Amino acid sequence: MTIGIDLIHFSTSDYFLGLDTFAKEKSVDLDKYTIGIGQEKMSIAPPDEDIITLAAKAAAPILEQIEKNDITAVLFATESGIDQSKSAGAFLHGLLQLPNRCRVMEFKHACYAGTAALQMATKMVAANPKEKILVIAADIAKYDVDSSGEATQGCGAVAMLVTDNPRILKIEPGSGYYTEDVNDFWRPNHRETALVDGKYSTKVYLNSMKHAWDNFVEETGRGFDDIDAFCYHIPFSRMTEKAHKTLIKKVGAKIDDETFKRQTDAGQVYNRIVGNSYSASLYIGFCSFLDNAEESLEGKRFGFFSYGSGCVAEFFSGAIQSNYRQYLMTDSHKKQINSRQALSYQQYLAFYHSVNLSVENIKLPLTNKGSYRLKAVENHIRIYERQQS
Ligand code: COA
Repeated sequence: MTIGIDLIHFSTSDYFLGLDTFAKEKSVDLDKYTIGIGQEKMSIAPPDEDIITLAAKAAAPILEQIEKNDITAVLFATESGIDQSKSAGAFLHGLLQLPNRCRVMEFKHACYAGTAALQMATKMVAANPKEKILVIAADIAKYDVDSSGEATQGCGAVAMLVTDNPRILKIEPGSGYYTEDVNDFWRPNHRETALVDGKYSTKVYLNSMKHAWDNFVEETGRGFDDIDAFCYHIPFSRMTEKAHKTLIKKVGAKIDDETFKRQTDAGQVYNRIVGNSYSASLYIGFCSFLDNAEESLEGKRFGFFSYGSGCVAEFFSGAIQSNYRQYLMTDSHKKQINSRQALSYQQYLAFYHSVNLSVENIKLPLTNKGSYRLKAVENHIRIYERQQS
């Protein structure tokens, strides 16, 4: 049985802050951002955009291509949760008018949760091949103003349809895992912004990758030379270079610069200009690879490294299916990114501070230009609307 990603599409917000604008404001050399951390822009969510509207924007083009009543489950991964009780997937289920014969769950473990949801979906399809599962990973990365993480904000959502006989990626059985109770990044319930020990988190990321890799090799018998391309979790795109160099050193591979680039570069194109999207980040990187690789990827094996601070890590692999290109939604990805509006630093701050949603009632100004928006909070209930385009 072949199980994996049948369709994949991502969304981001309608606004961005350029790291050039940011560098000028902070009186920092721009090269620190474009070279040192590998970021050029960060998508900024306006007040009426949240993980639900981002998720709806990501999923809608997939649902247009299938019979949406066939969806049997929505597995929603996020660390930007909007309710302690009701799952984000239930809000999305309503907004997209999904069938009632459907299971909905929310998954959480920092940036790892998208992989947890994806792997759970493959197991559900293995148990019942009739299942068609919508996996969502959606997050808004928000740090304190003037903290070291501020330059690595961003937002985005990925929707993946997981089925039997997938048209894009077969997910191969066997994964390597690593979990350790550490405090490199966290967001207590009372905070809107994450706290991070950035340099420590980079170390824990690389250490957990080495352990997950060892476990992957033991479990699958596959090695470095069996993998054609690598997608790593991308909190900032320079992390890919750090991760790939670490893996190459660990396995003692001899790789020239051209091969290094071919194995990793296409996966960073979008992340450099979208910024961090936590649980979605690895899969936006995968979309980036699919859309931007110059050569055909048919039959190529991808290695995926998923990392969530705190920490949980997993290394797994998948094989690109024949004719995958005809099912990609490259035009939609590029159109969204290219039509974003640039913000000044003051406009960014206005979005950043504008709304306190922990009030009983509020109407939100119309700033989200997409098809779905958060319209209001009424009696502490979030009200979403679908806008005519
Ligand atoms: N030109 C080129 N490179 C420059 C530079 C310049 N003018 N100025 C600095 N750099 C390089 C530094 O040498 C450093 O490179 P290195 O990583 O190879 O050592 C890099 O840019 C970053 O500089 P640094 O001084 O370490 O930046 P920082 O203190 O602002 O921290 C992060 C950077 C990434 C740690 C910080 O942005 C952060 O905490 N981000 C969040 C991390 C995260 O999301 N972790 C979650 C889990 S993965």
